Amino acid sequence: MHKTQENHKKVVLTGVTPSGTPHIGNYIGAIKPALDMAKSSAFDAYFFIADYHSLIKLWDASVRQQYIYEIAATWLALGLDPSKVIFYRQSDISEILELNWILTSIAAKGLLNRAHAYKAHVDENRAQENPDLDAGITMGLYNYPILMAADIIMFNADLVPVGKDQVQHIEIARDIANRFNHIYKTSLLKIPTAMVDESCQTIPGLDGRKMSKSYGNTIPLFAPSKKLRKLIMKIKTNSQAPEEPKSTEGCTIFSLYQQFASQEEIDHLADEYQKGIGWGQAKQILFEKIDEVLTPFREKYEHLLGNTHIIDNALEEGAKKARAIAKPLLSSIKQQIGI
Ligand code: TRP
Repeated sequence: MHKTQENHKKVVLTGVTPSGTPHIGNYIGAIKPALDMAKSSAFDAYFFIADYHSLIKLWDASVRQQYIYEIAATWLALGLDPSKVIFYRQSDISEILELNWILTSIAAKGLLNRAHAYKAHVDENRAQENPDLDAGITMGLYNYPILMAADIIMFNADLVPVGKDQVQHIEIARDIANRFNHIYKTSLLKIPTAMVDESCQTIPGLDGRKMSKSYGNTIPLFAPSKKLRKLIMKIKTNSQAPEEPKSTEGCTIFSLYQQFASQEEIDHLADEYQKGIGWGQAKQILFEKIDEVLTPFREKYEHLLGNTHIIDNALEEGAKKARAIAKPLLSSIKQQIGI
């Protein structure tokens, strides 16, 4: 039995768009902190796969299906317990789309005109001197923040752990919830709060910039050992000679090592930097550490991907629990608006 909301626990909710294979940056920045929160008895946790959000930029059905399974398998392999966390696929909860329209009908267009992702596309068209500033922009991209608001509001979320780039979306969700409550003279909709973990923002990628799919500098979390080693050997370094003492500050290899090694191991590598260590050797140490930590999870991950019915069952279970929460709230909302 999952815990119901009657026991006044805070609701923590977050979603992941299936638009790529999970990488080490996702793991450290988002997945690991979320799983840690889910273990705390202070929260009811909702984690979901935002497959409808992925529709706006990914138009290949089989690739989408693959990403959905990869993300679900990642969370399950890393220890998400579907009996404790409500873990579901957004598209299984049709109530979210009903709420989406209800919220669309009261959301201010001007609010969405100011959304960063939309504005960036308009700016790009302007820079290209395209006479149509909305060229290439779908209504899906434009309405994206409203669907996100529906995801959040549908489950009375108190806290929404997100990356910095998503904070504006939570502000939009707050705005929309407040506006609904004001228009319909109610306090039915919970006002959510974004939660940004500042310490986890800067996981460097292969080229030293933030690890991100859009920079093409990622290390897939469950790359097979051989591939993992190959990628780590590609990490960009400076041209210091092996025997020169090196700075750990701003060093990609060292930063990644810190995320996986014990304090003792970290101190030891810092000493080696001080004494002078070759980059190749430092990379080998990093590879061995990451491989050691991830191998048991990788095995579970591969098992799940080879047995997708296990994933389907977990998501179906989650969808049942999620709908049991969404249905009564949607009924109250409909009653409130006279439908
Ligand atoms: N837009 C989020 C991202 O790309 C994913 C997402 C969809 C989400 N709906 C959400 C995150 C609701 C938090 C809450 O990262």
